[in-house]
Order: sequence, then structure tokens, then C-alpha cells
Amino acid sequence: MRILVDRDLRRLDAYAEGPAEIEGILDGSVRDDGEQLLLASFDDPVLVTDPWRIAQLPPSRRDVVSSFFGLPRRTIEYDGVALDFDASRHPRVWSPSIDTLLMCKALAPVLDETRENGSVLEVGCGSGFIALYAMQSLRRRGKAPSEAHLIDIEPQALQVAMGALESVAGSTLVTTSLGRRGDALRVRGRYDLVMMNPPYIRRPADLADPAFKDNPWEGVALLRELASEGASLLNPGGSLVLVMSSLCDGLARPWFDASWEVETLATLDVPLKVYAVTSGLTAKSRAWMEYLRDVEGLVVHDPPLRGYTTWQRLEILRCRPR
Ligand SMILES: C[S@@+](CC[C@H](N)C(=O)[O-])C[C@H]1O[C@@H](n2cnc3c(N)ncnc32)[C@H](O)[C@@H]1O
Repeated sequence: MRILVDRDLRRLDAYAEGPAEIEGILDGSVRDDGEQLLLASFDDPVLVTDPWRIAQLPPSRRDVVSSFFGLPRRTIEYDGVALDFDASRHPRVWSPSIDTLLMCKALAPVLDETRENGSVLEVGCGSGFIALYAMQSLRRRGKAPSEAHLIDIEPQALQVAMGALESVAGSTLVTTSLGRRGDALRVRGRYDLVMMNPPYIRRPADLADPAFKDNPWEGVALLRELASEGASLLNPGGSLVLVMSSLCDGLARPWFDASWEVETLATLDVPLKVYAVTSGLTAKSRAWMEYLRDVEGLVVHDPPLRGYTTWQRLEILRCRPR
């Protein structure tokens, strides 16, 4: 399936494509039906996979769309930049989500100002979509970066990201390093642009046992590290661009305000859709939701707002050292 999102994040189109889907799943014919079939379009997306919007479709279309969104393989395309992702091969890698795309949308003015032959770093790269987008967009502006470096704590993420960037790297040197918990910034160089869509859901102290996995969404340690040490990664005139969530901004925003000039590039209200946190099915999820509601001020809508009870505000912040 191809998920195509327009540059302004105003429309998301989902397509079945290629023989495996059109002939294998839909029992059609690429010759008669074409290489791509539009499954559904959604205006003003707030999630890449939005079960509530899918449920509003007419029943015959709803069921087929729902099953396509459940497929492990998808291609995400935003503003002419595409990445293939297979969750069955890389289950621990964060698939490009609405926060990923909001970050890409917000990068335009920063990319306009980035110098020729510059260098970019993505911390917590997941699939690498943001670094891929920055690299391709700079090249389109005639300013291909000399280096794109990616860091993640998850080895599978580096594998996916390297695969995505290397095939279109051209003159850009693509390099990776494996981060370590509490020591994410294992890089020696300085960069013109550092980008980060970090984990941002705070976990309650009683769920902070080291036995708990370092899931891609939980904890704020990476934000703290970047706030205190990120300036040492930047060339003069460079920027750090990051995603900040209302689920942690009371704690984490002051870390940046203390020693950075902070500018908001984009804002979007989106549902909180991390089932490990929101399902209410496990004791851990119930404790987590209680904590986010009572301590973090998570707003719970009852009845649900546009299909979801829990929402957060995402902001893309551009930070420059003072
Ligand atoms: C919310 S995901 C974002 C992934 C990707 N940048 C995107 O926007 O699609 C956060 C990523 O940070 C990584 N991460 C978490 N803690 C980290 C650490 N201490 N050092 C490096 N990466 C880390 C996770 O493995 C995950 O890939």
C-alpha cells in the first residue's frame, strides 16, 4: 500500500499498488485496472493510520481499507520523498507517523537557510524518514548535504534508515552510530542541522524499572540530553529542530528555554494512539493513563472528540543556542 500525504498535510490518499496487491489481494489485473487503485482519501489527517476515519467509510470500502492498513508493508510518500517500510521484518522500528510528517512540513524555512555542502544529524532516527526528507529536500534546493548521520538506540532502526538513505545518497556520505541509553549523543562531529522526534510520553516512577523495554515512545531522557548537550553538536549558525508534546512540555520545555532561543515552527493537535499506554487492558496501561491524567494534565474527552478520548498537542520547535 502507498500512503501519499500532500505537502501541507491537508490530505492523505491510500493506494493499493503493484501485482501483489491488485492481483494477489484484490484478484484484479494490473493490465485492466492499472498499477495503482485509490482505496480512500482523508482530509486534514491527524494520524497516518486512523481507525476512526476508516470506520466512517461505507462498509464495503471500510473493510478493504481496514485490511490494507493492517498490512505490514507500506510505502510512505510525503512531498515527493518515499520510504518503504515492512513492520514484519522490523517490528521494533517506528514507522513514519503524523509527528514524523509534521516535522518534515515544518523544516522548510530551516532547509532554506541551511548552507551548501552542510551536514545533518537525526537523533532517534527510527526509519530515517526525517533525515531522508532533509537530504532530498536540500538536494532539490541545489544544496545536497556532504554528510547525513543517524543515531538510534535500536539496531534495526539503523538498518532500515541506512537502507532508505544509502540508495539515494548520491554525493552525501551516510553514516550511523548506535546510541546507548543515557549516552545517546555518541557522535564526534558538529552539524548544521540536528533533527529529533524523540520519545515524549513520560512514564510514572513505578514503571521506570530498567526491566521495562526502551520503547520508542516512552521517557524524556533524550530531550534532557539534547537540551543540556545539544549545542556542542552544532556548527555556528546551526539549528536543532525537535518535536515537543503537551504530554511533557511542562517539564521539558524549560530545559530548552533555559539556554536556547526557541521558536515554534508548527503545531498540530493529534490523538494519543499508543495502545501500550491507552488500551486500558493491562495493569501497566491503566496505571500509565492515570498518571498522565493526574500528573501530566492529559485531557480525556468523554464523549470522544472526533473518535478519540485522548489528545495531545505537538509542536515543532527550532532551537538555537543563546
Ligand atoms: C518517536 S520515535 C521517532 C522515529 C523517527 N525519528 C520518526 O520521526 O519517524 C523515537 C526514536 O528514538 C529512538 N530512541 C529512544 N531513545 C534513544 C536514545 N537514548 N538514543 C537514541 N535513540 C533513541 C527510538 O528507538 C525511536 O526510533
